[in-house]
Amino acid sequence: MNKTIYFIANWKMNGNHNSIKEIERVFIFFKKNVIYKFKKIIFCPPINLLSSFRAKIKSRLIDFGTQDISKININNGPYTGQLSGKMLKDTGANYVIIGHSEKRLIDEDFKTIKDKINVALKNKLKIIFCIGENLSQKNKGLSLKVLKKQILSSLDKNKINFNNLIIAYEPIWSIGTGVVPSNNYLYKIYGNLKKFLKEKYNVNSPVMLYGGSVTTYNVVTLREISLISGFLIGGASLKSASFIKIIKNYFK
Ligand code: PGA
Repeated sequence: MNKTIYFIANWKMNGNHNSIKEIERVFIFFKKNVIYKFKKIIFCPPINLLSSFRAKIKSRLIDFGTQDISKININNGPYTGQLSGKMLKDTGANYVIIGHSEKRLIDEDFKTIKDKINVALKNKLKIIFCIGENLSQKNKGLSLKVLKKQILSSLDKNKINFNNLIIAYEPIWSIGTGVVPSNNYLYKIYGNLKKFLKEKYNVNSPVMLYGGSVTTYNVVTLREISLISGFLIGGASLKSASFIKIIKNYFK
């Protein structure tokens, strides 16, 4: 297998300055173990830690991303509390998470997500675009309808380049719950999404990830789905031991 597999650590509102130790352990492991070749490791710590972490780990083995971006499309200005795309790029981030269900609940509607995607593109930040249905939508059989709407309302056909965009499918009912969809369910979702993206955006091989309660155990089952090109990992990414083990188990 020689396609790139992504392992993205979404630290959410966790971590402090000492947490660099976790990233350093991951870095040392991969420096020693060159066998794990076709992988991309991206850490998305809280923004207050990003610059100093990036300064300590200057290596192509590990990349960094932010968990948010301002929707305001200028570099500087009178916008209290906002961080512009340029500022985020300056921290050393190359990726940004947009559309995470936890953010959608707080303050990201379709239009905001679209605006943020534009700012990210302008600043050459690659986008980790999250989509996902909630439990009641799933139970009503609406999953694909919800996902397609999330995609269509935020991805502008004329602007999006799928080389700069990763789609992370994260069923809301799976995030932080320990419940992971069956492979049958996932085959259906990813197969349909692939077809849909081809139809609407003419993309042949979109990079699609899975997120939601990924662990050292279930990664072995999830890896059977070849349309999944990696994982967005929350809880299990906070400690280097579990994060490394997820990657080891994937390639075992
Ligand atoms: P989890 O979070 O792995 O803790 O479920 C994943 C995510 O929300 O990105």
